[in-house]
Amino acid sequence: AGLLERISAEVPLSAVVHAAGVLDDGVLDGLSVERFEGVLRAKAEGAWHLHELTRGLDLSAFVLFSSFSATVGGAGQGNYAAANAYLDALAEVRRAEGLPATSIAWGPWAESGMAADSALVSGRMERFGLPPMDPALAVTALERAISGSDTCPVITDVDWSRFGKELSGSRNSALFGEIAEVQELYRTVDHASTDGPAEPTSALAETLAALPVAEREPMLLDVIRKHTATVLGYGTPTGIDAERGFFEMGLDSLTAVELRNRLNTASGLRLPSTTLFDYASPAALARHLLAELAPDASAPENALPEEIDRLESVLSALPEDDMARVRAVVRLQSMLAKLSHAGAGTAVQGASGGDALDGDLDGVSVDELFDVIDRELGDA
Ligand SMILES: NC(=O)c1ccc[n+]([C@@H]2O[C@H](COP(=O)([O-])OP(=O)(O)OC[C@H]3O[C@@H](n4cnc5c(N)ncnc54)[C@H](OP(=O)(O)O)[C@@H]3O)[C@@H](O)[C@H]2O)c1
Repeated sequence: AGLLERISAEVPLSAVVHAAGVLDDGVLDGLSVERFEGVLRAKAEGAWHLHELTRGLDLSAFVLFSSFSATVGGAGQGNYAAANAYLDALAEVRRAEGLPATSIAWGPWAESGMAADSALVSGRMERFGLPPMDPALAVTALERAISGSDTCPVITDVDWSRFGKELSGSRNSALFGEIAEVQELYRTVDHASTDGPAEPTSALAETLAALPVAEREPMLLDVIRKHTATVLGYGTPTGIDAERGFFEMGLDSLTAVELRNRLNTASGLRLPSTTLFDYASPAALARHLLAELAPDASAPENALPEEIDRLESVLSALPEDDMARVRAVVRLQSMLAKLSHAGAGTAVQGASGGDALDGDLDGVSVDELFDVIDRELGDA
C-alpha cells in the first residue's frame, strides 16, 4: 500500500507483475502448517493484497508468476503447488470480474532464479523432463501470454520422452492426451507391453549372482554412488564418498525418497522410505543391498533355516520314544538354554548328576533323559 501511494499521478500505475515466491520443498509428512504458511505468504497473501489495492485502477495487465507444479503437481512441492494454484484461481476470479489477469505456469528458468540457483531443484526438474528455459525465449513468451486471451497459460520446455515416463500412471490423461508426443509415447508403451516377455524384475540381481563374491559389494557400491550423484545433481560419482553420510553429502528427505525409488527400480526390491536413515552411507547401504539381493549361500548362517527344517523332518519321522530322537531333543534343549544364556550349564544337569548333555549321551538311561526333558519343559 505504501509503495502504491508513492506512485505519482503523472505516471500512473498501468500494470502489476507479482513475482514474489519462496520454495520450501519437502515430502508431505515432513511439511507442517508453518512450512505451508511461509510459502503461501509470499504468493497468496501478496497477490491478494495487490488485487484488492489496485482493483479500482485502470490496469492493462495483472500478471501472476505461477508454476507448472500447480498445473501437474510436483514431487515434494505440496505447499508450493497449493500456493501457485491460489494464483491461478485469483486470475480466474479477476477475469470473471472483468479485470485483467494472466497467471503463467512457468517451468524452470535457466541462468538464475529459484530453480537455477539450486542444483537439487534444477536437477530434479530436468530428470522429471523439464529442462531449464532460455530466459530470452521465456520473456518473449511472457509478452505473448500477456497479450493473449488465456487466463492461465503454461510456459515450459518439456522433454516428452522423459516427462511421459513419469506420466505412465496417468495414461490417457485428459490434460496431456492430445499432445502428439504423449500419444506417440503411449503407443510405444502399449506396443512394448504386448511384445515379448517382460523385463526380468531385477537385472541387477542377475548380474550380481554371476559375479565372483568379492566383486559383488564393490559393484553395488558403484550403482549406489552413481544414483546418489544423479539425485544430487553431480555429473559424475567421483565426489561421492562411500563412507560419508547421505545427509551430510546434501541429501534431504525428498531426495532420499528419490534415491530410494531409483534403487528400487534398479534392484527390483521394495526398500522402505526409511532405508537411507537405517543405512546412512553408500557403504552401509551396499552391504544391506548385497544381503537382500545376493545372500552368500556358502555363509554358514544362510544355511541355517534349511538345516533346521531338515532336522525337524528327521526327528518327527522317528517314534516319540526312540532313543535317538530323545537324545537329540535333550541336546537341542541344552543348546537352546546355552544360546539364550538362560541358566546355561545348570539347565542341563541330568538326573545322573553330570553335565550329561554336553558330552556323549550313550551312558544315560531313558528314564534319566525323560527326567531332564520334563524339568527343561517345566513339567516336573
Ligand atoms: N525461476 C524459476 O525457474 C521459476 C519457475 C516457476 C515459477 N517461478 C516463479 O517465478 C517467480 C520469480 O522466481 P525467481 O526465480 O525470480 O525467484 P527468486 O530468485 O527466488 O526471487 C524471489 C523473490 O521473491 C521475493 N519474496 C520472497 N518472499 C516474499 C514476500 N513474502 N514478500 C515479498 N517478496 C518476497 C524475494 O525477495 P527477497 O530476496 O528479499 O527475499 C525475491 O526477490 C516466483 O514467484 C516463482 O515462484 C520461477
